[in-house]
Amino acid sequence: MRLCVIGAGYVGLVTACCFAEMGNRVVCVERDPFRLARLRRGEVPIYEPGLQPMLREHLASGQLSFTDELAEGVERVEIVFIAVGTPTAEDGSADLSHVLAVAEQLGRTLTRPCLVVDKSTVPVGTAERVAWSIRERLAARGLGFAVRVASNPEFLKEGSAVEDFMRPDRVVLGCDDDESAEQLRRLYAPFLRNHDRVLQMGVRAAEFTKYAANAFLATKISFMNEMAGLCARLGVDIEDVRRGIGSDRRIGTHFIYAGCGYGGSCFPKDVRALIRSAELEGFEPAILRAVEARNALQKTLLIQALREHFNGLLRGRVVALWGLAFKPGTDDLREAPSLVLLDALLAAGARVQACDPVACAGVATRYAEAVASGQLRLGESPYAAVEGADALVLVTEWKQFRQPDFARIRGLMRMPVLFDGRNIYDSAEIAELGFLYRGIGRPQAGRSKAEVA
Ligand SMILES: NC(=O)c1ccc[n+]([C@@H]2O[C@H](COP(=O)([O-])OP(=O)(O)OC[C@H]3O[C@@H](n4cnc5c(N)ncnc54)[C@H](O)[C@@H]3O)[C@@H](O)[C@H]2O)c1
Repeated sequence: MRLCVIGAGYVGLVTACCFAEMGNRVVCVERDPFRLARLRRGEVPIYEPGLQPMLREHLASGQLSFTDELAEGVERVEIVFIAVGTPTAEDGSADLSHVLAVAEQLGRTLTRPCLVVDKSTVPVGTAERVAWSIRERLAARGLGFAVRVASNPEFLKEGSAVEDFMRPDRVVLGCDDDESAEQLRRLYAPFLRNHDRVLQMGVRAAEFTKYAANAFLATKISFMNEMAGLCARLGVDIEDVRRGIGSDRRIGTHFIYAGCGYGGSCFPKDVRALIRSAELEGFEPAILRAVEARNALQKTLLIQALREHFNGLLRGRVVALWGLAFKPGTDDLREAPSLVLLDALLAAGARVQACDPVACAGVATRYAEAVASGQLRLGESPYAAVEGADALVLVTEWKQFRQPDFARIRGLMRMPVLFDGRNIYDSAEIAELGFLYRGIGRPQAGRSKAEVA
């Protein structure tokens, strides 16, 4: 099929590459000139495992191309995917300006019938607004052909996006007409050869499904974080509780890890947008509000623990920070808990030695002043980061941090203090190695504050 994907971000670029992989002819439209230039050179502007070889291969074969000209993208196209960002607007709702701008452009540009598909995460009713906008502009141009609009929300996870797209758990198709559903089923058929995982529903239900999925996952995390807070007060280890409840198949083992809060480009903004949708309907979203409040609090736990440990005196302290990306496997820093911690540490006058396998460049841009003054040092080596440190804080659970040489680390640090923001370490083992260990919702282990000072 001839496809156009608008927006070459985490979702658009993966979508374009994976559809090209299945033999479709894909033109990807990207308006950011720097991103476009890199893509045309075959460089992936984001960190996403497996994407680079696909991009190179399909660029070379001509199966995939990039442009900033929408007219070029939609020439003889059968399906257009909208995959632009929907960040949080000032009032908490999803900012639809990028999506609606694309709809306007399509109305001014299309010259023949096609199917337009919202892949961006958008509130219920957006497909109707997109359809209306396109038709209005077509009518103004004296064109009366049909442009159908469907919803196909994306469920890929950054860090395993290619794998998720190539072998989806499910493909949600929101279509209010049979022709659109048939066209999308044909497009997705090669991805679903072993097992038909297409879930077809109305457009509005598909739009809502994406929000409900993200809100539910965020709720699981915030629920566990709340339990962790209570565990800490009762002298119970949340890790025992997690294993205890995760073995119940009705609960499951996923998304029940207590930690220093969720971030990323989806959960925070999607929970906020759903709250705003509820408010606009005069419906009180009590659970969603609690999920959001718990997460905001959770992101401050590490700085609170550091303040408490250093009796409020962080100025001049050297803090090693492991992991900056909002989760392992990506360089995405959007709403990352590390940023809340970094802001607070730098404002308090601490010196930070941070490391991350792929996200340092983004942090260097964001904190250029602190990097220039030497207050923030960035690198890829976990061992260099702990040199002379008064405390080590694990924020993102990258694999390379799972089993480091703690004896070596102890020798490098000024004080052997470990704050485990993701509860990835065995507290007893760390304690035995001579550290003071503090996790989230776990009893403190190892040497006391006075002993390590
Ligand atoms: N990132 C994820 O893991 C993920 C997962 C599922 C769904 N989503 C949803 O998918 C959508 C896109 O997310 P993302 O993370 O890929 O965003 P992104 O910000 O990484 O990418 C959006 C891209 O669209 C481009 N763009 C914006 N307006 C354009 C226009 N008019 N023409 C051409 N290009 C334009 C931007 O320059 C940018 O490169 C959002 O609605 C998001 O909620 C994201």
